[in-house]
Amino acid sequence: MRILVIGGAGYIGSHVVKSLLQNNVQVRVFDDMSTGQAVNLFKDAEFIKGTILDSDALEHALEGVDGVIHLAAKKAVGESMEYPEKYAQNNLTGAINLLNAMVKKNVKYLVFSSSAAVYGIPQYAQVDENHPVNPINFYGFTKLEMERLMQWYDTLKGIKFVSLRYFNAVGYDAEGDILGLEKNPQNLLPVIMETLTGIREKMAVFGTDYNTPDGSCIRDYIHVSDLAEAHTLALKYLQKNNQSQMLNLGTGRGHSVLEMILETEKLLNKKINYTIAPRRSGDPETLTAIATKAEKLLNWYPQQSDLKNIILTTWAVYQKNG
Ligand code: UFG
Repeated sequence: MRILVIGGAGYIGSHVVKSLLQNNVQVRVFDDMSTGQAVNLFKDAEFIKGTILDSDALEHALEGVDGVIHLAAKKAVGESMEYPEKYAQNNLTGAINLLNAMVKKNVKYLVFSSSAAVYGIPQYAQVDENHPVNPINFYGFTKLEMERLMQWYDTLKGIKFVSLRYFNAVGYDAEGDILGLEKNPQNLLPVIMETLTGIREKMAVFGTDYNTPDGSCIRDYIHVSDLAEAHTLALKYLQKNNQSQMLNLGTGRGHSVLEMILETEKLLNKKINYTIAPRRSGDPETLTAIATKAEKLLNWYPQQSDLKNIILTTWAVYQKNG
C-alpha cells in the first residue's frame, strides 16, 4: 500500500509518517514546507515539495497512490479571523483541488485532519460526534466545509473518507525521532515549554474565573503519537469497510490550564513564570471528547496520553533544541 501524506513534514504529519512506516506502509510526503520542517522528514519516505494550490503537482503526487492523508491546513484560530482569505485559499481551495485530483487519478480513500473546532461552543461538556456543528471561528468553518465537501464527493464520486476530529494535540515522539519545534506557537504546552527554556520571559493564564474546580479552562489533551496511530487504523478501516466516518479523537479526560502548569513544575522540578490574565475570547470553559466511536470502529485506544508522558516527551525535545 502506498499513501500520500500531505503535510507530512509538519508536527502531526511527521508523527503520522512514522506510524505508517512502522506498519510497513510505503509513504510519499507532499509538503510545501511553509510550516513543515526538513528535520521532520524520514529517510524511508519519499518526499515531493509542492503545494495543494497546484493541481498539476497534486496529480503528479497521486500517481500510483492507494490513499491520501490530508493534514496540510493553516490552523491558527486568531489569524483565521483576521485573514480569512488566506484560510479560504489554503484550506478550501486546496481541499477542492485535492478532491478533484483524487477523482481524476481514481484514488478512493482519504483520511482528513479535522478538529473539535467544528463544534463551536459546546452545548454539553463531553462532546460526541452527534453534537451540533456550529464553528465560531473561520478556521473551524474551513474544517466543517471540507467535511461537507467530502460527504458530497462520497455520494457523487465514491471517495470514502474518515474525518478525524482532533481535540488538543500535544506531546512528541517518545523515541526522539521527531525534533521540529513549531515557530511562534500559541498553544498551551509549547508556551509553557518556551517559558521554561527562556524563549519567553513569562506566560499568561487566560482566565481563572471559569466555573471549573480551579477556575481555569479544561481541555482534552491527546498525545500526537496516539493521534498518529488513529490515521493508520483509519486507512485500514477504509480498506476493509469502504465506509465514510466522522470520528472524535480524544481521551475523554480533561485537565485544566493550571493543572498543566503545576504538573509540569512538579515533574521537572522547575518554576514557571506565569501571570493571571483576562479570558481569551472564544475559549469554551470545558471541552472534552467522547471518543468511544473511534475506539469501537478503529479499535483505537490512547496509550501515550497520560499527563506525565505528554509533558516529559515534550520537554525532551525542547531541552534538546529549544
Ligand atoms: N492558554 C493559556 N495561555 C496560553 C495559551 C493557552 O492560558 O498562553 C489556555 C487557553 O486559554 C485554553 C487552553 O490553554 O484555555 C488551551 O489552549 P490552546 O490554545 O492550547 O488550545 P485550544 O483549546 O484553544 O485549541 C486547540 C487547537 C484548535 C482545536 C482545539 C480543539 O488549537 O485548533 O484545540 O479542542 F480546535
